[in-house]
Amino acid sequence: MTVLGRFSSSGWRAVVPARHDGGVAYVRGWPATLTEPSLLQAPVTLRPLATRDAAAWREARVRNSEWLRPWEPTNPETPLYQSSLGPYVSMVRTMRREARHGVTLPWVVTWDGRFAGQLTVGNIIWGSARTGSVGYWIDRDYAGLGVIPTALAMALDHCFGVVGLHRVEATIRPENRASRRVVEKLGFRDEGIRRRCLHVDGAWRDHICYAITAEDAAPSLMARWRGTVRSARSRIG
Ligand SMILES: CC(C)(COP(=O)(O)OP(=O)(O)OC[C@H]1O[C@@H](n2cnc3c(N)ncnc32)[C@H](O)[C@@H]1OP(=O)(O)O)[C@@H](O)C(=O)NCCC(=O)NCCS
Repeated sequence: MTVLGRFSSSGWRAVVPARHDGGVAYVRGWPATLTEPSLLQAPVTLRPLATRDAAAWREARVRNSEWLRPWEPTNPETPLYQSSLGPYVSMVRTMRREARHGVTLPWVVTWDGRFAGQLTVGNIIWGSARTGSVGYWIDRDYAGLGVIPTALAMALDHCFGVVGLHRVEATIRPENRASRRVVEKLGFRDEGIRRRCLHVDGAWRDHICYAITAEDAAPSLMARWRGTVRSARSRIG
């Protein structure tokens, strides 16, 4: 299998296996593993969700159920917090199948090599839209360290620069201050409220639609985010 690597002076690297005989990679730039080794206190990595992640995913979801419940879409067919492994294995398989068809990019977020959360670019529409929606969550034990903004900056550079998307949106409940901070820190635009647009925590909820385009992110969101982190650090001293 051919592996394409990109290295920059700043250390962020992407490893993208090229299309190969197993028919795995229908989409340019997928599967891809992206790593920021040194910006935060430990490396942040995005790697494709694998079947072996089902157990860690279930464990984290059950342990973080109260933390995640107010913000997670409700799916009556596959409740998020049940303790049996089967539904998680099914969800992994579904997401991997969608990835093969180019409509979802499901990543696991790791912190120092440990499973720490997820980031998925889903609902991808090709043609003249080239758009997708991003969703993410992190284990409460790793909250507030800048892990998700770092992962999101890497993911968006990859989506715009390699995969070929043009626009990515994030729909966030107005009450979710932490998530709004993530997209605000990366320069997403607030495009207004969508009334009762998603079923979350058992009811139809209003969401703010935030969006960013390839032009907004150019030349590199990760370079901009690195600058933001370093200048905040130097202000603190
Ligand atoms: C939203 C979320 C993904 C942010 O991830 P993160 O890696 O913690 O992001 P950051 O480190 O940039 O922190 C974002 C904000 O969280 C808040 N925060 C900071 N430390 C925190 C902590 N220990 N616990 C909870 N929130 C904290 C702060 O408001 C911070 O903003 P600031 O940097 O301007 O102070 C995470 O809070 C989460 O998983 N929440 C539950 C699920 C969820 O809301 N998903 C998104 C649905 S739209």
